[in-house]
Amino acid sequence: MEMLAPNIYEELQGPGQFINILVDESWNIPLRRPMSIAGANRDQLTIIYKVLGRGTKRLVTKLRGDFLNILGPIGNIFNQDKFNNHHPILIGGGIGIAPILWLHNVMKGGSFQHELIIGAKSKSDHFLKHQPSRKIYLTTDDGTLGIKGTVMRVLQQVVNQLYEPMIVACGPAEMLKVIQTFLIDINIPGQMALESYMACGLGICQGCVVELTHSHQEKHSFGEKFSLICRDGPVYDISRVRF
Ligand SMILES: Cc1cc2nc3c(=O)[nH]c(=O)nc-3n(C[C@H](O)[C@H](O)[C@H](O)COP(=O)(O)OP(=O)(O)OC[C@H]3O[C@@H](n4cnc5c(N)ncnc54)[C@H](O)[C@@H]3O)c2cc1C
Ligand code: FES
Repeated sequence: MEMLAPNIYEELQGPGQFINILVDESWNIPLRRPMSIAGANRDQLTIIYKVLGRGTKRLVTKLRGDFLNILGPIGNIFNQDKFNNHHPILIGGGIGIAPILWLHNVMKGGSFQHELIIGAKSKSDHFLKHQPSRKIYLTTDDGTLGIKGTVMRVLQQVVNQLYEPMIVACGPAEMLKVIQTFLIDINIPGQMALESYMACGLGICQGCVVELTHSHQEKHSFGEKFSLICRDGPVYDISRVRF
């Protein structure tokens, strides 16, 4: 879905940020639905979303010219300064492809070489082409497109062929957790964007808490042990999050 949002566009910082959409002005669905920004160009934002429940079913009924109440931009961004002297591997899974695709498109125009791995359940969930020669790898759980299996199959192969790899990932928590364990084992750095459940999106309701790893085990004040994804994230260093 593309939307004209000049005020948000003006304040955008980059891939990782999201918007919070009130999908129904009559307040039948009062909680906003967070959606990552998948692209931005000339006052326009793009989102890519999967229809899951009431909110996204309502969103899909919107027509060209309709107005949407959106808050944003919200959140931090992937830290591209950390890519210096590294070879980024971008990984998107399921509904987590949006910020990864935006980052991929930004990086295509820059000087960083990178790999892109996108995982989905089946062929119908993909809309890119599997092009290993262009370093774009698609995986499907059922083998109907690209490489059969999860993103881990490709990651385990490419990571060994690259000098100083660094991972940037977004996707379901189960996928991020497997990637995190793998990276910590082989001591490779990375960043990931989390997509938790959210209510307010403003740091008030405490609905999007994630537990952090931290070195001072004796201290347990809330701010050191927990983080609010809407306020402090969604992008975290891969070793900082405790799943
Ligand atoms: C920062 C952020 C960025 C996001 N970006 C995107 C995006 O780019 N594209 C996209 O499609 N979705 C994205 N999501 C998830 C999206 O917000 C939810 O899918 C959406 O709110 C579901 O609303 P609903 O009313 O349709 O479903 P609901 O009726 O709320 O839920 C329907 C089903 O979806 C599950 N569900 C709801 N929210 C989530 C979630 N966050 N993660 C996993 N399962 C969920 C529920 O358990 C339930 O089974 C993002 C979430 C966050 C926090
Ligand atoms: S969604 Fe309310 S505090 Fe994050």
